Amino acid sequence: MNRIDLEGRVAVITGGARGIGYATAERMLASGAAVSLWDIDAERLQQAQTALAQPQRVAIRTVELTDEHAVDAAAQATRERFGKIDILVNNAGITGGNGPTWELDPAVWRRVLDVNLMGPVLTVRAIVPSMLANGYGRIVNIASVAGKEGNPNASHYSASKAGLIGLTKSLGKELATKNILVNCITPATANTEILTQMKPEHIEYMRSRIPMGRLGEPQETAAMICWLSSEDCSFTTASTFDISGGRTTY
Ligand SMILES: NC(=O)c1ccc[n+]([C@@H]2O[C@H](COP(=O)([O-])OP(=O)(O)OC[C@H]3O[C@@H](n4cnc5c(N)ncnc54)[C@H](O)[C@@H]3O)[C@@H](O)[C@H]2O)c1
Repeated sequence: MNRIDLEGRVAVITGGARGIGYATAERMLASGAAVSLWDIDAERLQQAQTALAQPQRVAIRTVELTDEHAVDAAAQATRERFGKIDILVNNAGITGGNGPTWELDPAVWRRVLDVNLMGPVLTVRAIVPSMLANGYGRIVNIASVAGKEGNPNASHYSASKAGLIGLTKSLGKELATKNILVNCITPATANTEILTQMKPEHIEYMRSRIPMGRLGEPQETAAMICWLSSEDCSFTTASTFDISGGRTTY
């Protein structure tokens, strides 16, 4: 494993209690950063903090990411604990299950958009002003190959992730001269608990589209997130990075 230099950096990782967010926390800690994990699942957050075993460099915060007041309070608490926020990883997300568009419950549609798209808007609102004041920031949004291609039976999820790609492009341009770089990644299916939210036939559909013939591992995604969060990423912003075992063709 390469050591990506994140020495002295402070990162917020949403959805950090498990899966890709947790793997990102592990990799960032190994690279020298402090991390604040924001998640709705208090019990899993506690377990993650214990497992990471770095009490000086790991904070946890129970946050409902669609609640702007909770997000603002979490940002404030993180700055009080670590003095600043250098890195924001908008990773938390839900699938909303599977079904043809006309059969999906409008309330579920709205919830998927709220968590996957408004959540990152609210964290950006809460954190970017302090990044501007510090003259430094790296933001990584976790979208999905579904946002590029549109998975059948997941129109809400695909639309939310396409929206997140659009947000990345706009925000990256707004901040391009401020040393705050904004990028997103579009993973294909990775081996995490999110798969329990989907029908087995949908998972098989997604796996069958991956030329490498296997699912991704969260640690593989974490490596890309960490590089995009580092100073080595210096001339790339408003962009989208593929991590799909060859699935995406653009
Ligand atoms: N695993 C995959 O196949 C895959 C593929 C492409 C993209 N992604 C994206 O990667 C990201 C991470 O996925 P994962 O597989 O690690 O998922 P996961 O389900 O394992 O973890 C997601 C975390 O987000 C948290 N969360 C969900 N809603 C929240 C809310 N409203 N407020 C606070 N926390 C909330 C959950 O509690 C959970 O800990 C998601 O955005 C997902 O859409 C995953």
